[in-house]
Amino acid sequence: MFVFKAAVVGAGTMGGEIAQAIANSEFPVVLKDVDQKFVDQGLEKARSLWRARVAAGKMETAELERKFALITPTTDYDAFGDVDFVIEAVPERMEIKRAVFSELDAVTPGHAILASNTSSLSITEMGEATSRPEKVVGFHFFYPASVMRLIEVIEGEDTTPETVQAASNFAQAIRKMPIRCGEAPGFVVNRILNSSVSELWRFQEESGIDVKELDRIVSESKAAPMGPFFLTDLLGLDTVLHVAEYLKDAYGDRFYVHPRLQELVASGELGAKTGKGFYEHGN
Ligand SMILES: NC(=O)c1ccc[n+]([C@@H]2O[C@H](COP(=O)([O-])OP(=O)(O)OC[C@H]3O[C@@H](n4cnc5c(N)ncnc54)[C@H](O)[C@@H]3O)[C@@H](O)[C@H]2O)c1
Repeated sequence: MFVFKAAVVGAGTMGGEIAQAIANSEFPVVLKDVDQKFVDQGLEKARSLWRARVAAGKMETAELERKFALITPTTDYDAFGDVDFVIEAVPERMEIKRAVFSELDAVTPGHAILASNTSSLSITEMGEATSRPEKVVGFHFFYPASVMRLIEVIEGEDTTPETVQAASNFAQAIRKMPIRCGEAPGFVVNRILNSSVSELWRFQEESGIDVKELDRIVSESKAAPMGPFFLTDLLGLDTVLHVAEYLKDAYGDRFYVHPRLQELVASGELGAKTGKGFYEHGN
């Protein structure tokens, strides 16, 4: 199956950059959110990524404008009637995802593949909210999506080999590197990443070391590009919390949920996207 037109649902931390990565490879893409404010932020994110390339002398302004025009911003489903591949990037909550999959099933053509950017949740359960579970697949980008090349292509119980192949082909067409994963909680990367982050979170809580000091030690050790608390701020505290809770439920005490993370989410401090988390973030 060839993808002539794609769509991204959810224009938050991930959605804007996913749309940029798709348009950057010359595919028209619809970018939808429920709120115009987030659509505008997603568009601005995409534009700023191209602007940085223009500033670095790696792209002409005319090319920026042409690629930017490939993104159709919207808050409704009117432009979904001829899409071939949709990537859902709404919050990491099964009830929200299932509602979106059910809507997508109604508004997209029957041949369209419905993919989820979920970090951990069951593709099979999302597929069950549609009349085409064989065409539902995981398509997991990593933050920041414009830079990171890996995509986990996750097979649900009903996903057909044809769908997995089409998703892998589309990943390559947008210059990414697909790997096939089974439907285990956390898939491959988050299961590995969260087990090491869990140990650092647990150590911080037990020792009482300042979170910024721990981040500094980790980044200066070059074990990782940044410490676990700053990373959590960039990824979004609500997203990280949902994944951490889900992994702890699935695998037990090998995974850890940091109590401060729970407190910050409860008070609406979600990291860079709200301006404050473990750190303060300027605009
Ligand atoms: N943040 C990360 O680093 C990261 C990395 C990989 C995968 N993911 C996954 O991507 C998904 C999105 O995460 P995010 O960090 O971008 O979340 P986010 O909270 O930053 O953005 C979610 C967006 O979805 C919108 N939304 C909510 N309900 C909607 C609906 N019914 N229709 C359309 N839009 C709707 C919200 O308005 C918001 O703009 C999650 O499943 C998450 O696990 C996140």
